[in-house]
Amino acid sequence: MGSLRLARTLILLSVSLLLLLKSSTILAQEEEEEVDFPPLLDADDIAYFFERNDLDGLHWALTNVFERSDRNHDSAKIQHPLPEQLVSRGGGSTYTTAYKLKMDLEQAQYLVTQLRRDRDQEMAAFLETHVVPLYQKVLDRIPPLDQLQRTRGLYPFQPHDKQLGIEAIYNKALYAPQFGQLKDPNTGQVLPVLNPNLDLDRIQRQWMGEEQDSTPGIVVVDDILNPAALSRIRQLLLEKTVWYQTKMPLQFGGYAGAYIDDGLNDRILLQLSMELYQALPRIMAGHFLRYLWAYRYDAEYTGINLHADEAAVNVNLWLTPDDANLDPTSGGLVVFTAKPPPDWEFTKYNTDTDFVRDELLKPTQFANVTIPHKQNRAVLFDSALFHQTDQYKFRKGYENCRINLTLLYGTMQRGSSKKKNQPQSHGSEL
Ligand SMILES: *[C@@H]1O[C@H](CO)[C@@H](O)[C@H](O)[C@H]1NC(C)=O
Ligand SMILES: *[C@@H]1O[C@H](CO)[C@@H](O)[C@H](O)[C@H]1NC(C)=O
Repeated sequence: MGSLRLARTLILLSVSLLLLLKSSTILAQEEEEEVDFPPLLDADDIAYFFERNDLDGLHWALTNVFERSDRNHDSAKIQHPLPEQLVSRGGGSTYTTAYKLKMDLEQAQYLVTQLRRDRDQEMAAFLETHVVPLYQKVLDRIPPLDQLQRTRGLYPFQPHDKQLGIEAIYNKALYAPQFGQLKDPNTGQVLPVLNPNLDLDRIQRQWMGEEQDSTPGIVVVDDILNPAALSRIRQLLLEKTVWYQTKMPLQFGGYAGAYIDDGLNDRILLQLSMELYQALPRIMAGHFLRYLWAYRYDAEYTGINLHADEAAVNVNLWLTPDDANLDPTSGGLVVFTAKPPPDWEFTKYNTDTDFVRDELLKPTQFANVTIPHKQNRAVLFDSALFHQTDQYKFRKGYENCRINLTLLYGTMQRGSSKKKNQPQSHGSEL
């Protein structure tokens, strides 16, 4: 069924967006009723707004699509079933995993404590009396991993879970803090999210390999955000119920993902993506934002295996406080410096990691730059470089969870591949 209708809606959308874009957001609001929002925006849509420096338009489009999606807790507002792309990357709502539901449970408990502090008593009560016990009951029923071999660790909700009402709650947008932009309390001016003292010239020279000891295409930037922005973004990621993706634990380890096209679309994140773009013209030149996501890692698993992302520049930012990291020399990222030859096929080399290991990395003796985890540290690297999560050992507990925010700019600069690809999937589910 889907694809024809999707294509048609997308065409309709791009026409209406074109019209809307020419004008201001005021016009956009007037015409809101008439816009036929598609079930999903893609990387081209995001880059389209970004190129025009229209973050309000981008925020408007992403928010509207999200509000009409199956994530809306108010079923009367849902206009589309969950798009197949979101299901196949692990964002479905008919199954879960033990680690994901445990994260959801911990988040609900965390929110109860936070919202009780005079913020939203009604939501706190709802979470406490309804959501927390429901998640707990379902979680208690999930069999151990060795009994879930067939689904590689996924747990499809059973009739008794559905009777409890899990489907009305699970992977729904239950709570979103309304933070808006960071403003100076005195002047009301929007504050920059980047640390104003960054040495931008030096960062760009390092990227180019013009500084001593620099490796072209890899730069580490410490204290990248101003402290107020760091704490705001961290709070946002702790509180927003937007972590919909789970991976098959027996195959891909334990992390939950949140994506820009599925609710992680807050204004402050879009502002961050634009400030970075504008601050680093030698690195970013012409590479528009195409995608953004965050991953939250379960303390008991390992991280993401060897892969590359289909983009030009990957910005990886760490938000978790240093005292949560039990081994300060690890917990970050390993970037291998061997670049794949231009004629390599993206999908093939990204699925056949043995081949990459043997043919590309081994001949260089696994030459790599290993960057330890540090709060408020960003690693900017050429996305074509293979990378993997370093070993990590983090404290348990919801607030100690390792969270990684990723921004992808531009399309990969290699050979002739013209494929436009949503950078995503480490495999598909069920
Ligand atoms: C990274 O390089 C070092 C040597 O510089 C090596 O000991 C280490 O095993 C490499 N890391 C990986 C993950 O291959
Ligand atoms: C953060 O997430 C991205 C997702 O692409 C992944 O490539 C990267 O390895 C992760 N970084 C760390 C340090 O785990």
